[in-house]
Amino acid sequence: MIAKIKGTGSYVPENVLDNNALSKMMETNDEWIRERTGIARRHIAQGDDTVSMSTEAGKRALENANVKPEELDLIIVSTVSSNVVLPSTACEVQKNLGAVNATCYDMNAACTGFLFAYNTVQAYFYAGLFKKALIIGAETLSNIVDWTDRGTAILFGDGAGAAVLECVPGEMPPMVTHSDGSMGAALTCASPFATKEKEYVEMNGQDVFRFAVKKVPECIEELLEKGGLDRNKIDYFILHQANSRIVEGIAKRLKVDLSRFPMNLSEYGNTSSATIPILLDELNRQGTLKKGMKLIMAGFGAGLSWGASYLEWDI
Ligand code: COA
Repeated sequence: MIAKIKGTGSYVPENVLDNNALSKMMETNDEWIRERTGIARRHIAQGDDTVSMSTEAGKRALENANVKPEELDLIIVSTVSSNVVLPSTACEVQKNLGAVNATCYDMNAACTGFLFAYNTVQAYFYAGLFKKALIIGAETLSNIVDWTDRGTAILFGDGAGAAVLECVPGEMPPMVTHSDGSMGAALTCASPFATKEKEYVEMNGQDVFRFAVKKVPECIEELLEKGGLDRNKIDYFILHQANSRIVEGIAKRLKVDLSRFPMNLSEYGNTSSATIPILLDELNRQGTLKKGMKLIMAGFGAGLSWGASYLEWDI
């Protein structure tokens, strides 16, 4: 038995901060940001938080899957920007949705988190432990971004995406996951509970850029090899939405046409673990994804961590 995505949902805050508004807050400009990142605007929480956005995205995914909250036996939320340390965001979502039968916990694998949650559910279903899961990637990064640092503040946004996974007969689809803690200093955020100070995301942008355009194509090649898959038969590559130049670099190294790499980062910026499920939800609701389509999802981020998974669309 394996997991198939049966419904998707997403939620982004109404409040939009575009590049021109950002350039009034720091020494930057619309042209520079678009050219270097592809980002035009991002949505910033005002009244929303990680729990409320997760709940709304989860509710929409359940409706899309036609699954009742009490049918869920597992909820995993991937986040690095929870409202509180305890209880977990997943338990708060359980309460809000009334998913009384679910086991709930959070996962921190930064921008790779949604992909790792997806793989975890695959393994659980394969082992026969759970049958219906809700996985959510949700971030209020505006709380941990240093709004005086133009090297990071321009990149990130807030939002949540979710998917309902159901157990169906089938062989385990190929997946590849990696982590390299020795490179962790490239992208960090200290804990304010440890330092007793307000802490923010710090990043060596060029190190992260180089890592992404090298390691992500390598791991997609590894996945293709592992699954005996032909890259020309993959309909879409659903990549973590960090920077359009990163996506372009990955497509080029893989020698795959960029048209098979959908992007929505100009609208949302990098919402960390929420980018992949928000993109999946948009493509699902637009009708771009059709039953039987072959997809590869790939994520990368702090840790450093990265990975890729193959799936066949089944909605
Ligand atoms: N606006 C205007 N100028 C800026 C700027 C901004 N927001 N940020 C940096 N600059 C300036 C720099 O000061 C530098 O000026 P100088 O040449 O006079 O010294 C110049 O632009 C180039 O800076 P650099 O840092 O080399 O730019 P870059 O091409 O590496 O782009 C990032 C910076 C952050 C956009 C890029 O490194 C990146 O996207 N990295 C990956 C980050 C990422 O995706 N992280 C999350 C992964 S999950």
